[in-house]
Amino acid sequence: EKDGHDWFMRKEIFEQPRAVADSLLGRRTPAGLLHLDEMRLSDDELRDVTKIIIIACGTSFYAGMVAKYAIEHWTRTPVEVELASEFRYRDPILDYSTLVVAISQSGETADTLQAIRHARTQRSKVLAICNTNGSTIPRESDAVIYTHAGPEIGVASTKGFLTQLVACYLLALYVAQVKGTRYGDEITEIVHQLEEMPDHIATVLESAEQVYELARSHLDTRSVLFLGRHAGYPVALEGALKLKELAYIHAEGFAAGELKHGPIALIEEGMPVLCVVPPQGRDQLHEKMISGIQEVRARGARTICLAEEGDTKIEPYADVLIRLPKVPVLLQPLVAIVPLQLFACELATAMGHDVDQPRNLAKSVTVE
Ligand code: F6R
Repeated sequence: EKDGHDWFMRKEIFEQPRAVADSLLGRRTPAGLLHLDEMRLSDDELRDVTKIIIIACGTSFYAGMVAKYAIEHWTRTPVEVELASEFRYRDPILDYSTLVVAISQSGETADTLQAIRHARTQRSKVLAICNTNGSTIPRESDAVIYTHAGPEIGVASTKGFLTQLVACYLLALYVAQVKGTRYGDEITEIVHQLEEMPDHIATVLESAEQVYELARSHLDTRSVLFLGRHAGYPVALEGALKLKELAYIHAEGFAAGELKHGPIALIEEGMPVLCVVPPQGRDQLHEKMISGIQEVRARGARTICLAEEGDTKIEPYADVLIRLPKVPVLLQPLVAIVPLQLFACELATAMGHDVDQPRNLAKSVTVE
């Protein structure tokens, strides 16, 4: 049942190319338009949406953070992302023109469920992104995008996260199609890029051994920092969460630009800092990230950099370099998180921990 893997978690990490491919299947009409089965919101209803609020917990919340970058860029609709547990109790401003998007792998998370119930009392439409057919959250929503990760047994979310990202990209592109904020050709081009992602993820998995060796050389590590920018920022947060929950090591993710506003004080000689380097592009993201990496390295950090093939500018500043396939910046989380999952999984198992059932955690959190 574990397909020759020692843990469900490892099996699920290696299933990700298939899970992403399945989550993309059947989403296009013969005419090339995007089509989402259980969308159930009419084009008119979607055109009336003036604000999107994404609510979720944990890993699903980080998928929501990536979604904000994609939805705002492609649809020009303002997006807020909020932890479900905070949302309900702050008297959020909601009305019929607000679309609330609830992201939940299990579909049973109590905080997320209470949040959508509240949103519906305020006449907002609710769309669920969910991996579990017939679970409570999609049943209580106006529309659903099901992810097709298959059952996720490992308590820590891996393939669930990647397929949530896919659903978020599809939602963003669908809204762009309906609102006409992007041309059809452009949408088709991005869908093609998404369809290439399973191969790219498989490429990253082929170099698992490099990451495993790196992980095994960190058995005595007390603390690890993760840095990212733009869509790489939620990846840094998710990488840190994986390490906390599996290896019980103190780990924190930061937006690279925030370093100088405080966290850089944490850097000590030899401290590992995992850096998600954005693709080289026309904007200044890449250069800005490199200068952040230079700063931590100058203060003694050991920099472990995830950077795209062909990025030579990073080489002088990386103590360890893990290569990622060349993909567009908004889609990079789909490949960049994979080495971080492998790192946490291997480090935790090498320390003798049960990665399928980490201490103190439950697969679905049905109490608020
Ligand atoms: C972390 C993890 C949790 C869940 C969170 C939300 O690996 O699995 O942080 O992401 O409890 O769960 P769902 O998505 O089922 O609502």
